[in-house]
Amino acid sequence: MEYVTLSNGVRMPMLGYGVYQVSREECERCVLDALGAGYRSLDTAQSYYNEEQVGSAIQKSGIPRQDIFLTTKVWVEHYGYDAARASVLDSMAKLQTDYLDLVLLHQPFADYYGAYRALEDLYREGQLRAIGVSNFYPDRLVDLASFARIRPMVNQVEIHPYHQQEEAKHWMDKYGVQAEAWAPFGEGRGGLFQDPVLTAIGQKHGKTAAQVILRWHLQRGVVVIPKSTHPERMQENLAVFDFTLGEEEMAAIAALDKKESAFFSHQDPNMVEWFVQMVDRRKTRQDSTGEPKNW
Ligand SMILES: NC(=O)c1ccc[n+]([C@@H]2O[C@H](COP(=O)([O-])OP(=O)(O)OC[C@H]3O[C@@H](n4cnc5c(N)ncnc54)[C@H](OP(=O)(O)O)[C@@H]3O)[C@@H](O)[C@H]2O)c1
Repeated sequence: MEYVTLSNGVRMPMLGYGVYQVSREECERCVLDALGAGYRSLDTAQSYYNEEQVGSAIQKSGIPRQDIFLTTKVWVEHYGYDAARASVLDSMAKLQTDYLDLVLLHQPFADYYGAYRALEDLYREGQLRAIGVSNFYPDRLVDLASFARIRPMVNQVEIHPYHQQEEAKHWMDKYGVQAEAWAPFGEGRGGLFQDPVLTAIGQKHGKTAAQVILRWHLQRGVVVIPKSTHPERMQENLAVFDFTLGEEEMAAIAALDKKESAFFSHQDPNMVEWFVQMVDRRKTRQDSTGEPKNW
């Protein structure tokens, strides 16, 4: 495993296991398989509705809590100081832990300043080892990093070979914010796993396109949290520390950038309206279906 040292000195594994779209029924088994394969970093969120299953898998694994880097994210309906603070304590109870390694604000909407202040206080009290944000594009990241008391240590955004986020990464680097890729494979959209450039590079190294993608992220200094429900793929996705991409190979992958999201833009006002309506629906308990793709 390779590690990165965050701006506050905390060491974070460069490769972890994400549990978005892992059902409650499968989640405990998947996390146990991932820990068994050797993953020691887990990425969940309040909005994934599987924190309890992640917590019970950690307990059942018998792996000491301090050996696991555990991340969760605060969802928008819990924004504002008091609600965010209460929601993090609730997440800790669900995850059966008395501290978290990293807590992120999941989206850059609503009262994220209030929510962030709650994270700052929990961090100062020693309940969180690191704090950060997700889906904060450069304008909002620079704003928060400038006016918050504690700069976010991590920003988790969509990054993959078809959406490389060079500009966003530039601003994260400038403010000392570690870039973390969600959907490091872009969920395979646009035929990424079959991309001829990636498969050809893989053949040279005896690796799959998926492994080449993860290696590319790591060599760019981007933390990755690939998701798979299949144990053999979990192992495949971990076996990326025994080869190196050359400069020409990195350049060939850089040339694949389409510079646009494979999902949606958080800066599209229509999407912001969609999020607002979704939060409202949930508040009135009307929403249990039609959940959004990729958050
Ligand atoms: N902060 C945010 O807003 C946000 C948004 C999205 C995701 N995330 C986080 O990022 C994590 C990863 O993103 P993601 O799950 O959306 O997408 P992803 O990791 O890019 O892709 C997952 C997809 O790739 C498949 N896959 C995994 N390994 C493979 C391999 N070696 N070969 C072929 N196919 C493979 C998986 O299928 P199987 O499962 O069937 O193997 C699944 O369909 C999430 O779990 C979550 O923790 C955060």
